[in-house]
Amino acid sequence: MEMIVNLCKRRGIIFPSAEHYGGLGAVYDFGPLGTFMKEKVKQSWWRHFVTERKDVFPVDTSILTHSAVLNASGHISNFVDPLSECKNCHFRFRTDHLPSHGKCPHCGISDWTPPVQFNLLFETSLGAAEGSKKQVYLRPETAQGIFLALTQVRRAMRASLPFGISSVGKSFRNEVSPSSFIFRSREFEQMEIEYFVGAETNVDECVDSWVQHALNFFEHTLGIPSKQLRTVEIESGDRAHYSSRTVDIEFEWPWGWGELAGVANRGVFDLQSHRIGPACDDVCAVIEPSLGVERSLLAALIASLPGGNESDDERALHLPWNLCAYDVALLPLVRKDAQQNRLLDDYYRDASRAGFTVATDLTGSIGKRYRRQDEIGTLFAVTIDHESVERDGAVTIRHRDSMAQVRLDWNRVLATFRKWQGSNGVECWKELESIGEEVRREG
Ligand code: GAP
Repeated sequence: MEMIVNLCKRRGIIFPSAEHYGGLGAVYDFGPLGTFMKEKVKQSWWRHFVTERKDVFPVDTSILTHSAVLNASGHISNFVDPLSECKNCHFRFRTDHLPSHGKCPHCGISDWTPPVQFNLLFETSLGAAEGSKKQVYLRPETAQGIFLALTQVRRAMRASLPFGISSVGKSFRNEVSPSSFIFRSREFEQMEIEYFVGAETNVDECVDSWVQHALNFFEHTLGIPSKQLRTVEIESGDRAHYSSRTVDIEFEWPWGWGELAGVANRGVFDLQSHRIGPACDDVCAVIEPSLGVERSLLAALIASLPGGNESDDERALHLPWNLCAYDVALLPLVRKDAQQNRLLDDYYRDASRAGFTVATDLTGSIGKRYRRQDEIGTLFAVTIDHESVERDGAVTIRHRDSMAQVRLDWNRVLATFRKWQGSNGVECWKELESIGEEVRREG
C-alpha cells in the first residue's frame, strides 16, 4: 500500500484534494496519469457491461437529487452508520469498525459515548433567494437516477424484460471513518446497472450470473488474479435496507479481505417506494451489480505490483494494456535530432488519431526513459532512431514485461495495435514478436 501511495504521489497519479490548504478529509484529486487510468477503468467496464451486451442501455442522470427521491428510497431515514465518540480525544469512529479490544485507535483510551446513528447524505440547497431555497442532496448512489428514468427508457428503447440500465458517475457519502487512501472516500465514482427481470427469470440464478460476470471483469479485464478474489454472501443484518440478498466480491487488500464490489437483489423495493408503474408492474425483481471506479483501480494497481525484491530501478506496474495510462510511449533515440523528432510527430499523429493514448519523453538515456515508462506501467515503448529516419521508417518496439525488443515497420506496429485495441495486450505482443521473427527470417 505504501508503495502505491508513494508512486501515486511521486508521479502525480492521485493526491489529496486541496493539499495546498491542508487537504479536505478523504477527498482526492487525480493527476494526468490517474485521470487516464480512471478513464481506462470506465472504458473497460463500459465494454464489458454495456456495449458488448445487447440488453443494457446507458443513462447519465443528475447528481443533485430531489429530497422526495431519497425520502421514498429510504436513504433519509436508513442511510446511516453507527458512530461512537471517544470521550477523551473526541475523535469519532464507526462503531462497527472499532477494534474488538475497544480502545480508541487515536488515543488508546477506552471510554466511548453510546453509539448514535449518523446519516451519510450530503445536503445542499437549490435556488438563490434565501427564503425560497430548496433543500436537495448529492446522490449517495447512481441507482436512484436509474429508477426514475426507467419508464422513459423502457418506452424510448422499446425494451422488453429482462433488460438493464447502466449509469456511471460521482456519488457522495459523508463517511464516518474514511480509510485507506481511495478505498473509502467521501466523493467517488460508481459504475452501476439495475437489471429488471420478470416472472420467468430465476432471480437467484440471475444474481449468480452477474456475480460471475463481475468476477470475469476483475480477472480477465482488470488483470486481478482469481486467488485475490472471493465472494461472500452478506447476512441479513449487514445488508443495505433495500436488499433481500447481497453477494460481495472481495479483494485481498494489503490490510485483509474487504469489499471490492457488490451484487444485490433489490426486489421491487425501489419500484414500490417510488410507485413506478403501471408500465413496469411486470417487473418482479431488480438485480444490481455495483462497482466503484476508484476501488477497482486501486485493486488493479495493487495486483499489478511485482511481488519480489526488485530495486526501485527494476520496478514496473504489470497492468493490463487496457488500463495503462499510455497505450504506447514514443521515444526518439537522440533528443535533439530534428528528423527523429519530425518522425515522432508523424507517428504521434497516427497513433492518437487511431484512438491510442501516447506518451513522449525526450530526457535522459533510453534506459532511464524505459524505466520511467515501466514505473507507470506503459506496456509498449517505441524507439525512433537514425535508421528509422535514413532507411526505412521502422522502429524498435520494447515490451515492458519481458524487456524483449523487435524491429518492425511502423505501419505494421500500428495495424497490430489496432487489431488488439482495448485488450490486455498479451496477444498483441505475441503477434508483434511473430511478425518480427518472420521479417528476420525473410532477411
Ligand atoms: N447502489 C448500491 C450501492 O451503492 P454500495 O455497496 O454502497 O452499494 C457499491 O456501493 C460500490 O461502490 C462498493 O462496492 C464500492 O466499490 C463503491 N463504494 C461505496 N462507497 C464508497 C466509498 N466511500 N469510497 C469509494 N468507493 C465506494
